[in-house]
Amino acid sequence: MTIAVTGATGHLGRLVIDALIARGAAPGEIVAAVRDTAKATDLAARGVTVREADYDRPQTLAAAFAGVDRLLLISGNAVGQRIAQHTAVIGAAKAAGVGFLAYTSILRADSSPIGLAPEHLATEEAIKASGIPFALLRNGWYIENYTGALGAALEHGVLLGSAGQGRIAAATRADFAEAAAAVLLSGETGVYELAGDQPFTMAELAAEVARQTGVPVEYRDLPAADYQAALVTAGLPEAFAGLLADTDVKIRDGHLDDAGGTLSRLLGRPTTPPAEAVAAALKN
Ligand SMILES: NC(=O)c1ccc[n+]([C@@H]2O[C@H](COP(=O)([O-])OP(=O)(O)OC[C@H]3O[C@@H](n4cnc5c(N)ncnc54)[C@H](OP(=O)(O)O)[C@@H]3O)[C@@H](O)[C@H]2O)c1
Repeated sequence: MTIAVTGATGHLGRLVIDALIARGAAPGEIVAAVRDTAKATDLAARGVTVREADYDRPQTLAAAFAGVDRLLLISGNAVGQRIAQHTAVIGAAKAAGVGFLAYTSILRADSSPIGLAPEHLATEEAIKASGIPFALLRNGWYIENYTGALGAALEHGVLLGSAGQGRIAAATRADFAEAAAAVLLSGETGVYELAGDQPFTMAELAAEVARQTGVPVEYRDLPAADYQAALVTAGLPEAFAGLLADTDVKIRDGHLDDAGGTLSRLLGRPTTPPAEAVAAALKN
């Protein structure tokens, strides 16, 4: 059986390949379908087949998916361009006779008011319309969205946001990746709402960082416009900062919380505790 993973040189994609191999797939059964093959020399050295697959160059996709039985489409990161990009991937997968298509979507894509959701929902609709048996991996928030920026929080003693007391059922990328690998290997179709077992508020996260480091860190809740401005000051483009600030407002209203336990069921173990993710980030 040949399993292909797009975006395989990204953070999640690399972890999916690690998890496929850890769960018993032979490297030779895996195709890393990547935008830039030069970034995948390490994967090739492990025996993984590397092929070019650029969402913006549909002519690369037919050869990339030839002979592929199961495909993971990892959503691209060019917000605003993804419906066309993903539709090209789905069309090429259909033409190549791919028998199972998994897609990294967003938690409750069909009802989420988060600004990132419509592109995911449109992709889900295109997958359904293709007739390819599918699995929708509706990933919640990565905990790394927070733990990746702890340096600034420690420097300033504050964690900023507009999420209020909203609970976030974030999980590690590695847990989402392992779940994706499990679904690819099982071939079980369905809609999977995936989130961490231990939701936390931003204030709780700040308290955990303070507890582990001994450095006083507190959560400061800001109006969305002020949080957007802070993100712009930190270097984010205005529109993306606005999208993130608006996402925080939706978090406040519970839209990235979840108590379904589907992620841990797929993993066959509890999800990685937030405290462990914080500790791992502090080691780096
Ligand atoms: N759940 C969350 O909290 C969360 C947070 C951030 C993002 N996401 C979504 O989850 C996806 C995976 O997360 P990640 O952390 O792995 O992101 P990432 O490290 O930015 O990886 C994105 C991958 O998409 C690839 N890509 C971008 N444009 C492409 C194109 N035109 N053709 C082919 N490949 C292309 C990138 O290729 P290169 O390696 O060549 O750059 C990269 O491998 C993201 O792309 C985004 O859709 C989710």
